[in-house]
Amino acid sequence: MRARKKKNTQLRLEKVAPWMISWVEPTEHLQIEIGCGKGTFLSAMAADFPNCQFVGVEKVADVIVMAAEKAQAAGLNNLKFLLGDAWDLTGSKERRYMGKEKGQPIFETVDHPALCPQAAAEVLYLNFSDPWPRNRDAERRLTHRFFLHRYRTILRPEGWLELKTDNVSLFNFSLEELAADGWELWDLTRDLHSSIIANPYHTEYEERFSRQGIPICHVKARPKGERK
Ligand SMILES: C[S@@+](CC[C@H](N)C(=O)[O-])C[C@H]1O[C@@H](n2cnc3c(N)ncnc32)[C@H](O)[C@@H]1O
Repeated sequence: MRARKKKNTQLRLEKVAPWMISWVEPTEHLQIEIGCGKGTFLSAMAADFPNCQFVGVEKVADVIVMAAEKAQAAGLNNLKFLLGDAWDLTGSKERRYMGKEKGQPIFETVDHPALCPQAAAEVLYLNFSDPWPRNRDAERRLTHRFFLHRYRTILRPEGWLELKTDNVSLFNFSLEELAADGWELWDLTRDLHSSIIANPYHTEYEERFSRQGIPICHVKARPKGERK
């Protein structure tokens, strides 16, 4: 069922304005969660690592406002939220239809500036990304190689991507995309909670799925040859 758009979201966003950003500032020890949902994972991390900076990127206003309210309530000054699409972190060009002239369609290319500087993030988290199960939607999956190319730009040379999901099909797809795009993998498991891999910070979805006994898949990845 589609969530109904809440009427007071704009007002609530104004109240949490100090926790909202419109672009990511370059800073030391930056970690970004893409599709951060209600921000449980980042709030816990930010509280425990005050010397790191955390940014949650989320495309749904009704959801990100809850994450920002959580950060505000906890007084977390090292956690910020960016309302936007992961695709736009590195900027994009949009071909826009402008109408017709002498019967011919006219297009204009609109440049969308990057919302995140290059080589900025030490860690990018993809926690329980939407699986987009239909093949025709594969390019929307946040681990499609088109996105992986963008993450390479954002990651610092020593940085890495960390992925958790309950969805085995998305996990298999992600492993294929990471391999095809030349990423080195480690800490790969199909049952994180039964493994010896440290995992002290859980997300909302992780809690929900693990309560149902669904195993959690996990992997860390970095572009090959970029380790320092
Ligand atoms: C299934 S939820 C997981 C939320 C959280 N990471 C967790 O593990 O509990 C996926 C979230 O990613 C967001 N999302 C999906 N595609 C996105 C994109 N292209 N850019 C930013 N956020 C996105 C969705 O709006 C949703 O809130």
